[in-house]
Formats: sequence, C-alpha cells, structure tokens
Amino acid sequence: MEIKIAPSVLAADYANLEKELKKCSDAQYIHLDVMDGHFVPNISIGAPVIKAIRAVTEVPFDVHLMISEPLRYIEDFAAAGADIICFHIESESDTEKTINKILESGCKAALAIKPNTPASAVLKYLSKLSMVLVMTVEPGFGGQSFMADMMPKIEEIRAAAPDIDIEVDGGINAKTIKTAAKAGANVFVAGSAVFKSENPQETISMLKENAKSVK
Ligand code: DX5
Ligand code: ZN
Repeated sequence: MEIKIAPSVLAADYANLEKELKKCSDAQYIHLDVMDGHFVPNISIGAPVIKAIRAVTEVPFDVHLMISEPLRYIEDFAAAGADIICFHIESESDTEKTINKILESGCKAALAIKPNTPASAVLKYLSKLSMVLVMTVEPGFGGQSFMADMMPKIEEIRAAAPDIDIEVDGGINAKTIKTAAKAGANVFVAGSAVFKSENPQETISMLKENAKSVK
C-alpha cells in the first residue's frame, strides 16, 4: 500500500495559510477539519476557506466533516475543491445517501468512525468507499493523545479490504505512526506533529519513512 501523509491544517497558522500550505508540497493530501460546534464541541472552518486555499496548492484536499448533517453540504464542499469527502457514520445523515451524493459530486467518498464505534459498522459500505478513517482520538480538537486500543479496528478493516486506504487521525507522531502502520493503516493525518515542528517539510518525510519502516 502506498504510504500517504496528510498534514492537518487545524494545527497550522490560520493567519498564514498560504505559507503553511507551501511547506506541505510533498504531502499526499492536505487534511481539512470542518467542525460545526454541534457534532463536536469545537467550530473550525467551512467551504469558503477551503475554496480560497484551493488556489495556493496542488496537493489534493482530504476534507474531514465533523458536522451533524453532512448530506446538506456535500455540494458546497465539492464546489470548494474537495478531492475526498469524509463524513462520520455517527452523523444524522443517511449513510448510503451521503456516500452516493459524494460520488455524484465527482469526489471520492470516505467514512469515519469515532472511538466508540466498532469497525463492523463500515463493512457494508466498503465497496463504494475509497477510504475509511479510524479516529484515534475523540474528534473535536488537535493535540490529543493517540489511542492505541483502536488498532484492532484497523486490523479488522484491513482484513476485510486489503486494497482500501485506511486513514488514522489523532495523536500521530514519529512513534505512534509505526503502531498504526503495523496495524494496517496507510494514510496518516498529522496536525501538531507537522505544524508545531521546526521544519514541517522534514517532519513529513520523517513520518513517511517511519511508516514505511514497519511495512
Ligand atoms: C481532530 C481532527 C484532527 C486533528 C489532529 O478532531 O480530526 O485531524 O487535527 O490533530 P493532531 O495530529 O494534533 O492530533
Ligand atoms: Zn481530522
């Protein structure tokens, strides 16, 4: 499986997004966390900001919707320039309808599960998904600690879908990326680890090497 690093802009300097995104030109995705203050306690950015930054980088956008009604907003995020749209199975929108809407909009569809949701919940949707996101923290905030007890969920999804992208999000750093890679993840979101480091570019390549080292 190709190893992909997805720096999360949530930990970047929002006053200098163009500059921050230039540091991520070697990343495989830019991970954009959308929070509505309802599905999660925090509020972050929406489609207008994503549209504005689409022009300053060519790296594909991995949009992580932490919102209660993703189905209502799929067209907005597709129009803003999302490449992958990821929503939570725990949201209020119908899962099948939301996946179909994402695919109709021309984007790739991904489904995310919170720590208390079993891996089995996503299995029946796998054929339509490009990626499954296994949260390794409770969604809502950056800078939390990696939950290693989520690894069996990654193993279960990897066994069911040997070729799908499995993304992990939350607490990924030089050490935890190896744990997640061993379990079968191949797409790694990293917020604090990348943007709070001295040299984000070097951190991205170090994370990639660390993930590769256990494959
Ligand atoms: C949390 C977000 C994450 C967050 C990760 O709800 O989904 O993408 O930015 O941040 P770190 O890598 O700092 O744990
Ligand atoms: Zn995220």
